[in-house]
Amino acid sequence: MRIRPRRLRTTAAMRRMVRENRVHRAQLVLPVFIVEGLAEPRPIASMPGVHQHTLQSLPGLVQRAASAGLGGVMLFGVPAHKDATGTCATDPDGILAQAVRVARQAAAGRLVVQADLCLDEFTDHGHCGVLAGDVVDNDATLVRYREMAVVLAAAGADMLGASGMMDGQVGAVREALDQAGFTDTAILAYTAKYTSAFYGPFREAVASSLTGDRRTYQQDPGNAREALRELALDLAEGADIVMVKPAHLDLVAAVAQNCDVPVAVYQVSGEYSMVEAAAANGWIDRRAAVVESLTGCVRAGADIVLTYWALEAADWLE
Ligand code: PBG
Repeated sequence: MRIRPRRLRTTAAMRRMVRENRVHRAQLVLPVFIVEGLAEPRPIASMPGVHQHTLQSLPGLVQRAASAGLGGVMLFGVPAHKDATGTCATDPDGILAQAVRVARQAAAGRLVVQADLCLDEFTDHGHCGVLAGDVVDNDATLVRYREMAVVLAAAGADMLGASGMMDGQVGAVREALDQAGFTDTAILAYTAKYTSAFYGPFREAVASSLTGDRRTYQQDPGNAREALRELALDLAEGADIVMVKPAHLDLVAAVAQNCDVPVAVYQVSGEYSMVEAAAANGWIDRRAAVVESLTGCVRAGADIVLTYWALEAADWLE
């Protein structure tokens, strides 16, 4: 036998040299929750190790993220007051705009300050847009996204995460930003965002008031071709980065093969909680599982990974 693939696996040095994919800290983005009126950081029960933050605890966290060499932070704001149209989302002094200002100052250009551009944390019904009867009104929601984009860009966000899954959201936001002079504010498009049970713990993290589900706007997990349709639309509308969420790796690969912009993937709250729960029970090697799952994302084609393990993982990567 002359062909022996095992030859390249014999030593650590050999394996290291022939490794095709490795994750770099600069590829990792840490999602951060900032809660209005919170006195001190509060642990999120369903996400052990993750906290809701305050405007006071945010600078320290952002500085840690920058010192760890992370690529960025993605900010989610939780307002004290919610209403039908998510008024606080477009308040220049609202929790998210304030968080952007604080994070920008703390980051001092060392990482990319990103903000979630969606209404679900701000609406009392918990949907990602405004309602017309029982359904989310796509075009009325775009009006709100446009206003919100300009407020967050003015606060100093480098990049906005268009996560609402409304048709035309990237184009509408791009147009609003450009008209307001924010031509350099980038858009991270949630291109293939699926309805998922794995967002469960996130709902606690953002104190979601959602009672139903998001099946009329988020994608059906049974569909793959549809993701390429969404991809074509987002690219045509001017998306700077396209994202797949949750980490359905066949879709990460498909999206990466079909576009020429950076591809991101969101390793969501449920994946975090599952690994943490298994590790807490001694059923899984936590660190190895985290590194393996991050490597899987990159191997599938992701250039950027949003992950709640970003800070810790930065120390674990090669
Ligand atoms: C909604 C949003 C969600 C997540 C990020 N943005 C929840 C949802 O769509 O229901 C989930 C992230 C996670 O689970 O970690 N704008």
